[in-house]
Parts: sequence; C-alpha cells; structure tokens
Amino acid sequence: MAAGIDDIAIYIPRLYVDAADFADGRGVDPAKLQKGLGVSQMAMVDTNQDPACLAANACLRIMQKNKLSPEDIGRLYVSTESSFDESKAMNSYVVGMLEQVYGQGTFEHCGGVETKFACVSGSYALYDNANWIRAGESDDKAALVVVSDIAKYDMGSSGEMTQGAGAVVMLLNDNPRLLAFDPKVTATSIKDEYDFYRPFGKETPIVHGQYSNLLYLIQVRKALDLYKEKSLNTGLIKLKPGETILDHIDYFNMHLPYSNMGKKALAYMVRREWRQLPRWNDIIKKIGVAEPTPKDPRGTIESVLGDAEFMAKDHEFTKLFTETSEFQEIYETKLASSLIASKMIGNLYTASLYLGFRSSLEFEYQKEMDLDGKRVGFGSYGSGSSAMVFSGVIMPEYASVVKDMNLESEIGPRRKLTLEEYEIIHESKLAPEQSMLNPKKEFILVDVKTDDESRGERRYAYNT
Ligand code: CAA
Repeated sequence: MAAGIDDIAIYIPRLYVDAADFADGRGVDPAKLQKGLGVSQMAMVDTNQDPACLAANACLRIMQKNKLSPEDIGRLYVSTESSFDESKAMNSYVVGMLEQVYGQGTFEHCGGVETKFACVSGSYALYDNANWIRAGESDDKAALVVVSDIAKYDMGSSGEMTQGAGAVVMLLNDNPRLLAFDPKVTATSIKDEYDFYRPFGKETPIVHGQYSNLLYLIQVRKALDLYKEKSLNTGLIKLKPGETILDHIDYFNMHLPYSNMGKKALAYMVRREWRQLPRWNDIIKKIGVAEPTPKDPRGTIESVLGDAEFMAKDHEFTKLFTETSEFQEIYETKLASSLIASKMIGNLYTASLYLGFRSSLEFEYQKEMDLDGKRVGFGSYGSGSSAMVFSGVIMPEYASVVKDMNLESEIGPRRKLTLEEYEIIHESKLAPEQSMLNPKKEFILVDVKTDDESRGERRYAYNT
C-alpha cells in the first residue's frame, strides 16, 4: 500500500528581525548572515504565541483547505524540541485548540504523541505514521504530522544569527497527491553526542557550533551509505558504470539550520560520491589542487576538527569545488529552490527540512518544471544525534496542490521588529496580552498559570 504526503500547510509568525538590522546591532558584517549563512530574515513569535499555537494554526489551515472534519483524522503527532512540559504532550494542547473550532470531544477517537530527537524527530514521526498507513491500521483515516519549533539561542551567542520560528503540517494518507514514500529504503544513523542540547529548565540550547556542523555531515553521510545499500539491494535504484546514487535523485532536501548548511551538506555528499568516479579526475584537473586529506587517517570528528591545517585546506578546496560548473549545475537544479523559504524565515528546527520541501515544490513549479515522477531525497539531522535519509516520488496529481502554494501570501503581512523590540521579546519581558500583533482567525496563548495548584496550565483562545 502506498503512503505519503497528500498536502502541506505552514504557519509562520508574522514578526521578524531583518538580518541587516541584527548584524548592525551586534557589530557583525551583514554579509556574514546574508552571504555566509544565507539568512535574510528570522521569524519571531509574538508574546501570545508558543510552539503549540503555531502547530494548531498550521493544522487548522490544512483542515480548512482540504475541508477535513476531525472524523477524517486518525492520528495527530507533534514533533518539537521546544517542548514546555516534561509530561503533557504538545499534541494534546493542539487537540484542545482545534476542538475550540470543531467542537469539544471531536478529536477523541484520534491518537498520537509528541516526539523528540532535536531536529530529526519529525522524520521519525512521518516514518511511523506512513507505516501505520501501510500496515492497514488507519481505517481509511489520515494522519497529521506537525513539526513546530521556536529556534532560540542565547543573546550574543553565534547561534543567535540562526534563529526562526514556525510550524509545518503534513497530511499523510494512502493515496497522496504530492509524494509517495519509497518503501524499505529509509536509513538511519544514531550516536550519543553533545553537539547541541537543552537541559531541563533551560530555554536555550548549549551549542558547540562547528562541532555540530561537522557531526551533521558525518551522521547524514552514514545514513546515506545505508540508504544506498538498501536502494541498490531492493532494486529501487540501479546504477550503470560511472554513476552514483545521487544521479538518481532529482531533488535534494536537507535539514536547514540556516540555508547555506544545505549547500554545505550537498557539497560534502557530492564530493564523497564523485570521488569514486572517473568524473572526479576532471574536477580535480579543473580545481587545480589535490583533495586534502587529514593527518590522522582514522578521520574521527575530534581529530579532523583538531587538524587546523587540514580544516583550512579543506575549506578552501570546498570553496573551489562549489564554484565548478559541475557542482553549480547540481546545486541549481536539485537544491536551490528548497533554500528560498529558509532565507526568508530562518531556522525552524524540526520543521526546517519540510519547509525546504514545501519551498522546492513552489519554486520548481514556478520554473515550470514537470515534477511528475521525480525522486526527492531527504537528509534529516537531529543533534544529540541521529540522521535519517529517505526518499519519495512526486505523484501525477501534484500540480493540483502545488499551483495554490504561495509562500508570501501564506506568511501574510509581516512586521519588522526593531532590535530593541526583538530583545524585549527574546528575554520574555512581556505578558501574552502585551502582544505586538492581534491576528484574527488564529489561536493565541492567553495565559500560563503560576499558582501552586495549576502551575503551567495554558489557556488558549481562537481569536475571531
Ligand atoms: N562575509 C561573508 N561571509 C562571511 C563573513 C563575511 N563578512 N564572515 C563569515 N562569513 C562566512 C564564513 O566563511 C562561513 O561560511 P563557510 O561555512 O562557507 O565558510 C559562514 O559565514 C559562517 O561563519 P562562521 O563559521 O565563522 O560562523 P560562526 O562560527 O560564528 O557561527 C554557526 C556559525 C556555528 C553555524 C553558528 O551560527 C551556530 O552555532 N549555530 C547553531 C548551531 C547550528 O546551527 N549547527 C548546525 C548543525 S546542528 C543542527 O543542524 C541542529 C540544529 O538545527 C541546530
């Protein structure tokens, strides 16, 4: 039985910080954000929004757009790393909000959990729900998988340049109009690591930035190796001499903590795959320098990061490689469209990979590309750490969904924050009722109780 993504909806908060203003305030060259990281704007939540609100607003949009009733939904999963309760799952808040619109008890038949593994947990949730459908357990109902996060770093930290907020919801069923997942090739890797983590009670993560960048690449590469093995063994992909698995993937979507990380990841994977092939000799001739190798042949992450000479040479080599016409072609045709939304919105943690997929559909459609039957590869990474690589094929009916996608109108009118306003919001100095915006037909956070009896209880309203 097929299983896959039938539709996608997004909810992005309408406040944002402009990269140039931010750079100015922090005394950083704006080009570091705009060119170096690929960040133009970072979406920020208002004082009356939390990740559950964002998720509920995205769910309401997909349900209204597809004229779904709660009876059509069998599972509602929320994947997040911005959890505010150690026990009560975020999907329960989302159900509570949706029932304000659809009626109390209307989702009672529905199941689901909140999933956590940094930015990768949404991919596990998709996989589990796809298998629920494949196993014939869904009783013809659909699953909603929502990925919702507020990417917030300490003020003054290097991560502060890579913030953002938003939710993406995917409607999964057995007759998807957008993308059917390739069966039996999903591949994972996992390793106990401390590249990025958020201990209990701490609102912002502890981050080892450059370590996390390299770990992302290594973990995704390990999952890609397994994906390769599985897709060759199952016969999903057949390689001719001189080909790599990447030649058989038409579009790539990578986890995007900032948009340039997608390019970095693509360059790393492509280099590694092409290195085995005759075409690599031509590339090396073009670049004019040999590919550097680390001093320690074991190539552990610590030894690589500690090898300053290798890191500098490798950085330079990567730069030259990404300038070749061969890399530029794969970048422009297979990845670039997925990065557009990330530049405008920033990091969405769990949601960033799927915002990228949503972005690539809209902007490839605008280029009038025929997407029918095209294979899409996903490289998902979560710190701490785990990666998942999987793929799917775009379905013949995709255009009926994609033609209506419009990022700008779905985000809606935005309000730019001054740096002072941003800092006040960042430091949580305002109560929900002091919000900057008062959007209609959206769920908002009204109150978080502080008395001993009901501490932490959240009240939400649908703002008519
Ligand atoms: N003009 C143009 N480019 C400039 C520049 C300038 N004036 N100054 C710097 N740059 C470029 C740099 O060359 C670099 O580009 P390359 O990587 O292509 O060389 C880029 O801008 C960033 O510069 P640095 O590497 O010096 O930046 P940094 O070390 O200050 O911070 C960061 C970068 C480590 C990613 C930091 O933002 C951070 O810690 N972010 C949070 C952690 C993170 O996002 N990790 C990613 C992997 S883990 C993950 O993905 C999970 C998750 O969602 C968090």
